[in-house]
Amino acid sequence: GAPVEADVSKLAPGEMMTVEWRGKPVWILRRTEEMLASLEKTEGLVSDPASDRPMQPEYAKNQYRSIKPEYLVTVGICTHLGCSPSERLKTGAESGLGADWPGGFLCPCHGSKFDLAGRVYSSMPAPDNLEVPPHQYLADTLLIIG
Ligand code: FES
Repeated sequence: GAPVEADVSKLAPGEMMTVEWRGKPVWILRRTEEMLASLEKTEGLVSDPASDRPMQPEYAKNQYRSIKPEYLVTVGICTHLGCSPSERLKTGAESGLGADWPGGFLCPCHGSKFDLAGRVYSSMPAPDNLEVPPHQYLADTLLIIG
């Protein structure tokens, strides 16, 4: 498949967009300061906090799992059996996931939870963090995926 460009200049803080790459949905989430701060809280709750496991690009091997902390770029396919996790970006009770939920993603198939960096919580059916696809910035708000 050919690489795809994604213009993120219209994405407001806290908003997410999806582009298709090789038939897969790639999510781009523009994280707010609050969202980035939540990754401190989830650090100890996820099984592979710095994406040390293989199959992740170098730039995913950090707490934010991204090149620029502000933008999460990840494949929206659960690493368990390939269902589509749903956005649960809202925090607290409003999320439906309890007062402590810091925002993230929930897979409807077997309940795997991911934080706002796509890091899987410990003891979930999904074995790995959501995949970070190969990508780079062509300009400040223009990405190329693939
Ligand atoms: Fe997502 Fe099983 S496919 S938890």
